[in-house]
Amino acid sequence: MRQKIVAGNWKSHKTLNEAIQLCSEVVSIAQAEVDSRVQIVLSPPYPYLERLSHLLQGQSVGLAAQNCSAYDQGAYTGEVTASMLQSVGAAYVILGHSERRKIFMESDSDVLAKTERALNSGLQVILCCGEPLDIRENGTHLSYVQHQLEQSLSKLPAEQGINLVVAYEPVWAIGTGKNAIPEQISEMHTHIYQLIKSHWGEVANTLPILYGGSCKPSNAAEIFACDHVDGGLIGGASLVARDFIDISKSFKW
Ligand code: PGA
Repeated sequence: MRQKIVAGNWKSHKTLNEAIQLCSEVVSIAQAEVDSRVQIVLSPPYPYLERLSHLLQGQSVGLAAQNCSAYDQGAYTGEVTASMLQSVGAAYVILGHSERRKIFMESDSDVLAKTERALNSGLQVILCCGEPLDIRENGTHLSYVQHQLEQSLSKLPAEQGINLVVAYEPVWAIGTGKNAIPEQISEMHTHIYQLIKSHWGEVANTLPILYGGSCKPSNAAEIFACDHVDGGLIGGASLVARDFIDISKSFKW
């Protein structure tokens, strides 16, 4: 069975006090309301990870970083290594997000280097993929996403599949209020599932595939009911505890 996961990507939002408050709200409402089969993950900015990891001690809510260095420790001013993240309590790291690829020029090989560092440091990787609007419009979205993912899948051993989560996030749906429709989501998630299966066989039946891009309480149930959708990577709606929890309650069992 594939784990259901709802991960909140806070991006560059919140002060420390606001982050603590949001985290505390999510934990207390989640305990009362969210099915224990759903793994909730919070991904605050780097400086808040350690503080939040203390707040989350003994809780079932997981902690993710939003990026990590492609290098091990050394003379890399400004970089944060995967082992540092692991040492302050992060269990996951989001890699290959379209904002990193587009604004910070990360290539598929950068994403692979980071993924290898993260996996070797014992982090679980939420590996993002997704096509921009022009690719969707010219109809080559399946091969575009396949190429993105194959850069990693073909280089990693199948055993690492248990530490991987894939997040499909069409770039045109991120932060736009315009989510992909169920047919588009089912088509892509089925394609990703089959791709994982062709590389890694049975691993495909345990590797969660999340959808991200304007997922909110009003559309989460419809999105989570699509083929091979095991949850969501949530941006804007994860900044409000009530909305994030309502999304986490949108699975049909
Ligand atoms: P959004 O962002 O939910 O605000 O569209 C999703 C993401 O970037 O992970």
